[in-house]
Amino acid sequence: MKKYKIAVLPGDGIGKEVTDAAMKVLDAVGFSEIAEYTYGDIGWEFWCKEGNALPDRTIELLKNSDCCLFSAITSKPKEEAAKELIPELQGKGLVYFSPIVKLRQLFDLYVNLRPCKAYPGNPINFRDDIDLVVFRENTEGLYVGVEWYPVPEEVMKTIVKNHPKAQRFADVKLEDIAISTRIFTREGVQRILKASMDYAKEFGYPTVTVVEKPNVIRETSGLMVREARKLIQEYEGIELWETNIDAMAMWLVKNPQNYSVLVSSNMFGDIISDLAAQLVGGLGFACSGNIGKDFAVFEPTHGSAPKYMGMNKVNPIAQILAAKMMLDWLGEKEKAKKIEDAVAAVIAEGKYRTYDMGGNTTTSEMADAICNKIN
Ligand code: NAI
Ligand code: MG
Repeated sequence: MKKYKIAVLPGDGIGKEVTDAAMKVLDAVGFSEIAEYTYGDIGWEFWCKEGNALPDRTIELLKNSDCCLFSAITSKPKEEAAKELIPELQGKGLVYFSPIVKLRQLFDLYVNLRPCKAYPGNPINFRDDIDLVVFRENTEGLYVGVEWYPVPEEVMKTIVKNHPKAQRFADVKLEDIAISTRIFTREGVQRILKASMDYAKEFGYPTVTVVEKPNVIRETSGLMVREARKLIQEYEGIELWETNIDAMAMWLVKNPQNYSVLVSSNMFGDIISDLAAQLVGGLGFACSGNIGKDFAVFEPTHGSAPKYMGMNKVNPIAQILAAKMMLDWLGEKEKAKKIEDAVAAVIAEGKYRTYDMGGNTTTSEMADAICNKIN
């Protein structure tokens, strides 16, 4: 009997090639014997043909799956997107939205988990002893989309009336001011902190660093830090460090090896996770999990890299490590470790290197090399 139902969404561009590579590795590790894969439609092709980059049938598929292995999609700005619709769909007022943002909202995938571990021997590592895990809050903060331009008069009046610091903006013309809000809820903050601390405990990391700016952004960052101080009491042996986002950028370049689990809000987490990813090899290695209470989507951080599509050239390791994260989340820790060990062994050996690592190994050769280390 198959145990797991996995939705596989290769998406656009290089998504298909790197997904094929990851599936080979899942076969090699014996996961495919206990899993049922269903491929689903997502991305640009379906926007152009159907006016929906995330068709309802795909949402149904996800609802009937244990989790999802996603790759990458192509997306374009609203106006450009509208022009590429098939003629029958033109002028119907269809608006492009990002399917991955929609998935996060629909399934309340509040954790964005980004492990950034250096595998020794990778020539593009910043250093070989980095093992960072970034927890980025995925549903709130500055990315909630509660923003105005131009600002409606009643909104401006309310703000000016209710906040002394807003008074200096009272006379600015409404069309000369834009407002984006940063919204944190106690529940939102607590659950991302808890996820980061649980992870530190499960995988034996000694510290959790909360990365905010409470001295300036007193209310939102302040809420996060205060809740972190309370919650850490439940985790014996794990130290809470508090670092401002700006200083963190500096420390990550200076002493990245000193940090382990980092936890932050949506935008700050977005920024430090890209920085951290580059320290360990960049887009060809960066994987992430969008994780909710009982559903998760695993993906590489990179996009569809259209210029490399169909060339069998890009590095599949980010997608393979995304599959490894999926196995960890499903509780298949032994198989996950086998994948990671095989990736680490191929990198250490230095015989197979894709173009981003300075070599000319192809996507499929890299996948085969990793499979050979498993068998
Ligand atoms: P991208 O990540 O697709 O590619 C940027 C560059 O990074 C590539 O040209 C290539 O040099 C390098 N790169 C990416 N993946 C690589 C890999 N696996 N191995 C080696 N090198 C790799 O970002 P770009 O060019 O900004 O966007 C292309 C399309 O992807 C756009 O339509 C964008 O909207 C979309 N995108 C989708 C994402 C997603 O599906 N979550 C995330 C980022 C971008
Ligand atoms: Mg992706």
